[in-house]
Amino acid sequence: MPILVTGATGTVGGSLVRQLVAAGHEVRALTRDPASPAAASLPRQVEVVPGDFATPRTLVPALRGVERMHLVAMDGYGPLTTGPEILELARQAGVRRVTHLGHNDPSRDDDDPIEADHRPLHRAIENSGLEWTHLFPGEFMANTSEWAQSIRAEGVVRAPFGDWSSAMVHEADIAAVALVALTEDGHAGRTYWPTGPEPVRRRDVVRMLGEAIGREVRFDELTPEQAREHWQGWYPEEVIEWFLTMGEHPDGNAWVAPDVEEVTGRPGRTFRQWAADHADDFR
Ligand SMILES: NC(=O)c1ccc[n+]([C@@H]2O[C@H](COP(=O)([O-])OP(=O)(O)OC[C@H]3O[C@@H](n4cnc5c(N)ncnc54)[C@H](OP(=O)(O)O)[C@@H]3O)[C@@H](O)[C@H]2O)c1
Repeated sequence: MPILVTGATGTVGGSLVRQLVAAGHEVRALTRDPASPAAASLPRQVEVVPGDFATPRTLVPALRGVERMHLVAMDGYGPLTTGPEILELARQAGVRRVTHLGHNDPSRDDDDPIEADHRPLHRAIENSGLEWTHLFPGEFMANTSEWAQSIRAEGVVRAPFGDWSSAMVHEADIAAVALVALTEDGHAGRTYWPTGPEPVRRRDVVRMLGEAIGREVRFDELTPEQAREHWQGWYPEEVIEWFLTMGEHPDGNAWVAPDVEEVTGRPGRTFRQWAADHADDFR
């Protein structure tokens, strides 16, 4: 029986697909556009199927014959509003187990508006009748890809909060936790917090990217005002304001959770490792 991976063309889903294939599992990958270059670059053994969370019934063919699925909670920058319908269709199709890649920032208060928005989806998953495992990772190392263009073109990163410290996590480690939860017993009803193995400061991340590509990369630290202007058009306004509140909690994401090592049996990959894995994107 195939394992259905949603978000298969994305950062974590792509890694999960490759790790499942490498471990000998049959994989079905969901995408809104099977003709996209990202879908075309999936391993050839993978069955690529169309479906769009915005219209849950489009997932019915993808769910056929599936007992285990990975759900990426994607709805732009907000929570997946169609989650309950998708989970009910999955249950009706015979799905028994779901790993959920979502968002939950433990350093934020319960009444934080972005956090509060995600809670109904978490409850829907917990009440779905499926064996669920939540994955609430820390900041992705892959977010630094947004600097690739300015590093390639000018050798510079423009961002706020140089001293901000974050236990950023490698997508392969999040995927490795999902793989275990999907394919081994004992993870139902558990919540995992995949983080990297150590906190790293923004300015050190920039330095390590430079070391990985063998070229100095300058860090132009923006004030919050400059950052607001810099991000305009890239992110919705409420997301920009949410990013900027990070400055009030310089160690808010520095927490290192033991989950990657406990679940996979291997320590999490460092940022230095991530930079080496992705150096070509920054050259
Ligand atoms: N970035 C972070 O620092 C961070 C931290 C904690 C949690 N997270 C969580 O991680 C998740 C994002 O994971 P990611 O970065 O691996 O994703 P990503 O690289 O942004 O890729 C998004 C994936 O979602 C799929 N998708 C988007 N909208 C869809 C729709 N309407 N129907 C079906 N599929 C859709 C896309 O598939 P197609 O385009 O092929 O359809 C793509 O594969 C989110 O839940 C986010 O909250 C992120």
